[in-house]
Amino acid sequence: MSKLALYRKYRPRKFDEVLGQNHITEILKNAVNLGRISHAYLFSGPRGTGKTSVARILAKEAGCSDIDLIEIDAASSRGIDEIRTLREGVRFSPLQGDVKVYIIDEVHMLTKEAFNALLKTLEEPPKHAIFILATTELEKVPDTIISRCQNFSFHKIPENILREAMKVTAQKEGVKIDGETAGLIALFAEGSFRDAQGMLDQILTLGDSNKDKRITEKEAREFLSAPSREMVENIILSIIGKDTEKGLSVIHEVTEQNLNIKTFLKLILRDVRAMLLLR
Ligand SMILES: Nc1ncnc2c1ncn2[C@@H]1O[C@H](COP(=O)(O)OP(=O)(O)O)[C@@H](O)[C@H]1O
Ligand SMILES: [Mg+2]
Repeated sequence: MSKLALYRKYRPRKFDEVLGQNHITEILKNAVNLGRISHAYLFSGPRGTGKTSVARILAKEAGCSDIDLIEIDAASSRGIDEIRTLREGVRFSPLQGDVKVYIIDEVHMLTKEAFNALLKTLEEPPKHAIFILATTELEKVPDTIISRCQNFSFHKIPENILREAMKVTAQKEGVKIDGETAGLIALFAEGSFRDAQGMLDQILTLGDSNKDKRITEKEAREFLSAPSREMVENIILSIIGKDTEKGLSVIHEVTEQNLNIKTFLKLILRDVRAMLLLR
């Protein structure tokens, strides 16, 4: 396996490679095709769902060259001085091509003064400038900023999409994982692609040292501190059978082995839901 982290190696480079956000990529693809790209976008949503990736793809599709793509992390450049510098720089034409793109990540971190300064730029952006603001906390972004932008709300990535993507990535990396393992990673990731890839990265390292380049479900469970299938089954049976003793012994086992309680609950819910649907 290469040393490059999976999240960098598999960062989508085209709109069609972005999974689970079709409601956004379709609109942006159209805007690009029609030549109707807006001057200001606001991408909001949970971490690891594709905001930065889509921003970079949009920049490229808009004709922005690498040297005219400016990425600012508002978490570390929060103040008025940074935004003033930005306001001065934005007036200059792009060095190559027709557009200059500013991606401002974690934009909710800006100070009040910085927001006001940014607002002025957003009110009268130069023709060649495109701003893409991204945030995980939309409620902390002033309404005045929000109303100046085209807003896109990124969703958590559905579990089934994550599961399939993890299988494909593992295969590309030359390690076999089964559906159950991919499903566990998808469950743990809670909708974040980046988190899923991070876990897979570690699990693949585990698999690399196996002779047959295969991760068993047991290994994956151990690695993720996930309760076994029997534990899940037994707790459900104990509830159905009103068997307090059995139930308590499973819970004891789970805490004794320091297993992840949240996952335990999720696995229980998943099975109960499946049982109800089968009725
Ligand atoms: N919707 C998606 N489709 C495919 N891969 C994704 C998606 N969202 C995130 N990723 C993966 O996760 C990594 C981090 O995504 P990123 O765009 O930086 O997320 P965000 O900016 O929303 O935190 C990317 O490099 C990519 O590998
Ligand atoms: Mg990001």
